[in-house]
Amino acid sequence: MSKIISVCSEKGGVGKTTTTVNIAAGLVKLGKKVLVIDLDQQGNASHALGYIKDGKPTMSEVIYNAAAGIATDYASTVRHSSNGVDYVPASPMLTNITTFIASDSDSNYVLKRAMKNSVYDEYDYILLDCRTLLDLLVSNAMNASDSVIIPVECAVYSFDGLTKMLNKVISINNSTNRQLRVLGILLNKFNRTNASTSIADSVREGYGSLTFKTIIPYCPAQSEMAVVNQTCCVNDENSTMGKAYLEVAEEVLRREES
Ligand SMILES: Nc1ncnc2c1ncn2[C@@H]1O[C@H](COP(=O)(O)OP(=O)(O)OP(=O)(O)O)[C@@H](O)[C@H]1O
Ligand SMILES: [Mg+2]
Repeated sequence: MSKIISVCSEKGGVGKTTTTVNIAAGLVKLGKKVLVIDLDQQGNASHALGYIKDGKPTMSEVIYNAAAGIATDYASTVRHSSNGVDYVPASPMLTNITTFIASDSDSNYVLKRAMKNSVYDEYDYILLDCRTLLDLLVSNAMNASDSVIIPVECAVYSFDGLTKMLNKVISINNSTNRQLRVLGILLNKFNRTNASTSIADSVREGYGSLTFKTIIPYCPAQSEMAVVNQTCCVNDENSTMGKAYLEVAEEVLRREES
């Protein structure tokens, strides 16, 4: 059965998308079959994986159809990227999708229901790139998931976002998905300043082994690459960030398979 992991934070720009596509590419490099589901109307993960609008159904149709009880040609929703990661792209229609989800009599599990389709069974790992909100769509992602990865930027105020996310996981555990666990907190954009070091130390002190051992360094080149949608760097042997994400992918496997 596929392991389903949501990459979530209610803070913007902390590295959710970068983390999703790089862990996905890392897991492919480690021999796993991986699908990324883009749940953010910005479509950053889709673009990073090479998506060009092609008229075929996106994640919006998958969710609308599931809520409306309309059949979906699931096979045509999956695209293939050049680095071996398969993905289902997002579209701007996701912006207001919670209105549709809310109209479903089982509104907490619309995405979970859609993901029961056999097309998804062939993957070892499915990663869900979530948007920067803790709304019904993100709750649906968490209800469809076995675990969450929470990226945290090593910067002032990051702790607030982390606490909110952990409380959200507890609330989901107590209501709609008892199985959900935190697979790991991932420290990102670490830059060796006092502020960065102090945040990293506090997170490690506060959450111990819940924090991934690997820290993702701040790589200025990455921000420039993102402008041309080259968010994925795991296959670049000269990329410090790529190497770090490959180590995180190894940690994911150890945590999932231990
Ligand atoms: N370790 C890093 N070093 C330098 N830049 C980084 C790093 N991680 C992410 N970035 C850059 O930070 C920006 C935000 O990253 P990303 O889009 O992954 O965050 P996000 O949490 O998905 O954002 P959003 O809330 O918009 O969905 C991007 O320009 C990305 O390239
Ligand atoms: Mg994003």
